[in-house]
Amino acid sequence: MAKPVSIEVWNPSGKYRVISTKPMPGTRWIRLLTDQDCRVEICTLKKTILSVEDILALIGDRCDGVIGQLTEDWGEVLFSALSRAGGRAFSNMAVGYNNVDVEAANKYGVAVGNTPIDSRGLNAMGVKYGPETSNIELFQKHNAFHVSLALCGVLTETTAELAASLSLAAARRIVEADEFMRAGLYEGWLPHLFVGNLLKGQTVGVIGAGRIGSAYARMMVEGFKMNLIYYDLYQSTRLEKFVTAYGQFLKANGEQPVTWKRASTMDEVLQEADVISLHPILDKTTYHLINKERLSNMKKEAILINCSRGPVVDEVALVEHLKANPMFRVGLDVFEARSLTYDEPHMKPGLADMKNAIVVPHIASASKWTREGMATLAALNVLGKIKGYPIWSNPNNVEPFLNENSPPPAASPSIVNAKALGLTASKL
Ligand SMILES: NC(=O)c1ccc[n+]([C@@H]2O[C@H](COP(=O)([O-])OP(=O)(O)OC[C@H]3O[C@@H](n4cnc5c(N)ncnc54)[C@H](O)[C@@H]3O)[C@@H](O)[C@H]2O)c1
Repeated sequence: MAKPVSIEVWNPSGKYRVISTKPMPGTRWIRLLTDQDCRVEICTLKKTILSVEDILALIGDRCDGVIGQLTEDWGEVLFSALSRAGGRAFSNMAVGYNNVDVEAANKYGVAVGNTPIDSRGLNAMGVKYGPETSNIELFQKHNAFHVSLALCGVLTETTAELAASLSLAAARRIVEADEFMRAGLYEGWLPHLFVGNLLKGQTVGVIGAGRIGSAYARMMVEGFKMNLIYYDLYQSTRLEKFVTAYGQFLKANGEQPVTWKRASTMDEVLQEADVISLHPILDKTTYHLINKERLSNMKKEAILINCSRGPVVDEVALVEHLKANPMFRVGLDVFEARSLTYDEPHMKPGLADMKNAIVVPHIASASKWTREGMATLAALNVLGKIKGYPIWSNPNNVEPFLNENSPPPAASPSIVNAKALGLTASKL
């Protein structure tokens, strides 16, 4: 029999029982639910990853919907239990849903939501290119676009900012220097103390110039006046135009212009770049994209950043390379899992001992705005299904749900199995 679990309850007299398997950032998500007659129960169990047993205990005999996490195993057992308890909605607080057996959810008629907070292209923000637009005007428009994206605080920018933070921390050896200082080892200024790399004028290499890779490239080019080399299966004309316009802007102001190059092979990027950031999706073509041979093609003092997915880098080969090349530095937000389940925390032997590695625990999306936005979308997915609202027709533009100054649309922002369940799309 399932064991009892610790919970925090909001609006105890609410008609609909909604469970969140974890406390989530902010309070807007709770308010949106309680305002619509939901009793919200938040699991406060001090355990990072809840087991299926734990979640069964939470669901109990009656439950209208659950907000869960990417680390949980949502399959046949949980969907059948939720269905028996009268539940018709589940939402991950994540964009991805590889922890969810959507077929099983379909079988029990449970809607599965996700939280696709991200940015779309320049055109979506009303920035258009035309022959009548001068390059400097274009750059100014790009800048306005950049600012509006920053205000949106979307996942793309949040992740790109973490990649930029790791790049700087690695280049200037911030973590090593901080440890040295705290250990009381600083005795006075020395010419060689923690000498790192100047980014200005160096080359940033981006592998996978999609949403995040392009945002990162813009930050490094614009912020640190780095030249760009990128490799992607597709040409990123927007990014190229941005760098061209910025280069012309710099030139017009008497500064050295920045340049860009689209590499025809990934190895070209590895050989030429001083800082390389990985932003491809993880699939068969990108598994162990960075292996022993490719590491050896990189400059001895290069910096490698991975905020994409752990298995894009062969971590065993990386540890060997870090040992053999003390001035090669790496910044990692993601790690290789031992299996396809979510056991990322286990680093490969030796990695944690390397001074030339900066390791952070998958915090790329951990900005307050982004995480609160994800919690809001997850709550609204569940609420929408409970209230019988239609499904938002464009999950790629969920901004209207995130505006704190107006009530959200009466729709579920993103239900991945809407079609399979025959749910109607919103006409809003
Ligand atoms: N660390 C985090 O918390 C975090 C957060 C969000 C996204 N991500 C990861 O970041 C990555 C990028 O996300 P995105 O939103 O920018 O995706 P995206 O789809 O916009 O961009 C991915 C790019 O990779 C390119 N690509 C695919 N295969 C390639 C290959 N073999 N070689 C070179 N390029 C290739 C694609 O053409 C595309 O332009 C994904 O792996 C995603 O899972 C991580």
